[in-house]
Amino acid sequence: MKEILSLDHVSYSYESEDGVARRAVEDVSFTVRDGEWIAIVGHNGSGKSTLAKLMIGLLFPEDGKVKVFLEELNAYNLWDIRSQIGMVFQNPDNQFVGSTVQDDVAFALENNGIPFEEMVPRVHASLAQVKMEGFLDHEPHHLSGGQKQRVAIAGALAMRPKLLILDEATSMLDPQGRDEVIQVVNELKRTTGLTVISITHDLEEVLLADRVIVMNEGKTMMTGKPEEIFAHGDELEAIGLDLPFAARLSRSLRQAGVAVQGEHMTEEELVNELWTSHFNK
Ligand SMILES: Nc1ncnc2c1ncn2[C@@H]1O[C@H](COP(=O)(O)OP(=O)(O)O)[C@@H](O)[C@H]1O
Ligand SMILES: [Mg+2]
Repeated sequence: MKEILSLDHVSYSYESEDGVARRAVEDVSFTVRDGEWIAIVGHNGSGKSTLAKLMIGLLFPEDGKVKVFLEELNAYNLWDIRSQIGMVFQNPDNQFVGSTVQDDVAFALENNGIPFEEMVPRVHASLAQVKMEGFLDHEPHHLSGGQKQRVAIAGALAMRPKLLILDEATSMLDPQGRDEVIQVVNELKRTTGLTVISITHDLEEVLLADRVIVMNEGKTMMTGKPEEIFAHGDELEAIGLDLPFAARLSRSLRQAGVAVQGEHMTEEELVNELWTSHFNK
């Protein structure tokens, strides 16, 4: 599979107020390939947003290399590379420029010189992808948090990016808004071959990923499939992450002497095992 993005021994420090440089990212290496869905997870301050900024050239590494679409990011290729990356941030209220939903989604297209005849179908199609096609003329500030983030995702999709980066896109939402966005993201995974890097401090949200990178204090602590990561539940809790409900419950059941086999990540999996192995005899 074609490489989309790679970090090769990347480190970055911020200068703090007392003039001392503090490492925010230390010796991080990984490669993201075409069509992969990667989750980067870690508690607050573990370096996730710094990684995102390094990926889109808002920051440049102090050591190591960042390559996007096989090119090392530099001042010359930065804008071209960035135009092929969609990015959605944490705060739903900071992402709007248009006065209606459709103007907002059209904004980047207009700026990039997409002809009007092509703009209209692209705006409609990307709003349909996030289930917001019924809101074309609505004012963004009247939408719920979940709807706002879905429109922000549509805005990113309209540019037909090769890579979509979501940095804590659900963390300011209420449970319903979170579910809406997660469902839309789930649907995207099923229907497109888009490469996605989703950054979150919430372990519940890594279940969709092909591969998970766990960050702690600027370093990569673990990498693996979601089930491989959850097999290290104690280590995840030790760095301040909350295990998903089903994983916690499986563990409590085991501690209480109920034979539960695997690391269950969803309630459905856990219920199925309990049903077949304990109640269905
Ligand atoms: N602009 C900045 N100036 C100084 N320190 C920063 C800045 N941004 C982040 N940091 C520090 O870098 C570390 C990593 O932050 P960040 O990448 O935002 O982590 P996360 O996104 O995982 O919460 C933290 O210790 C944070 O305080
Ligand atoms: Mg962050």
